[in-house]
Amino acid sequence: MNNLIFLGPPGVGKGTQAKMCAEKFSIPQISTGDMLRSAVKQGTPLGVEAKTFMDKGELVPDRIVIGLIAERIGEDDCKKGFILDGFPRTIVQAEELDKLLSKKNLPLKKVVSITALDEELVKRLSGRRTCSSCGEVFHLMFNPPKTADKCDKCQAKLFQRDDDKEATIRERLKVYKSQTSPLIQYYGNKRILEEIDGSLEIGKVFGLICDAIGNSR
Ligand code: AP5
Repeated sequence: MNNLIFLGPPGVGKGTQAKMCAEKFSIPQISTGDMLRSAVKQGTPLGVEAKTFMDKGELVPDRIVIGLIAERIGEDDCKKGFILDGFPRTIVQAEELDKLLSKKNLPLKKVVSITALDEELVKRLSGRRTCSSCGEVFHLMFNPPKTADKCDKCQAKLFQRDDDKEATIRERLKVYKSQTSPLIQYYGNKRILEEIDGSLEIGKVFGLICDAIGNSR
């Protein structure tokens, strides 16, 4: 079963690659970042609380994201597998996920750890633009839209995420190193970790990931 985690620093391409793999393998991409942004947009109590952390580039409290994931992986479309994009992000989240998956008898197949240098990550996040309607992600230099500021797929306006300002990006990178990078060893010890060079172009990274998770391209 394709139960996968995509792990890596902000801007390394987790969302881009998770979306491509989700389409290819017909399994859902579950992004805690997207779920939280949707709650913020709707102005739910959870969204209002999460926003205070997200705006500063800090992690949202474990209890909030663990609750979101517990509910989501119980849904029917996860029965054939899923890609967790941006979860877990702390050892506590990883331990809670282990408990949840073992209760449901859903073993993890692989944890894909994508890496790139900080300066590349800052460039990618500063140039990222997202569609305000369908959520498609572009980059001003590396993956530009055909028409400036417009989504290629649905023509809606593109916007820059609030947390993609340089000071917040630097904070997110610090948080990744202190709170999330210990997960590399955590999953390395379980022998399900696959390390992928995320500095290559999008199509090449996708090929490496497909090979690593054992599905032909
Ligand atoms: P989240 O939305 O998960 O943000 P992130 O982890 O910081 O990751 P990003 O979405 O910024 O980057 P990505 O790796 O997906 O890169 P992308 O593919 O877009 O989380 C946001 C916030 O929510 C967190 O800060 C936290 O507050 C909270 N949160 C979320 N999950 C949480 C959790 N589990 N616990 C607690 N808090 C949580 O690519 C980036 C850009 O680069 C794009 O423009 C893309 O086109 C381009 N690009 C991608 N790949 C390449 C390539 N190979 N070459 C050139 N350009 C590329």
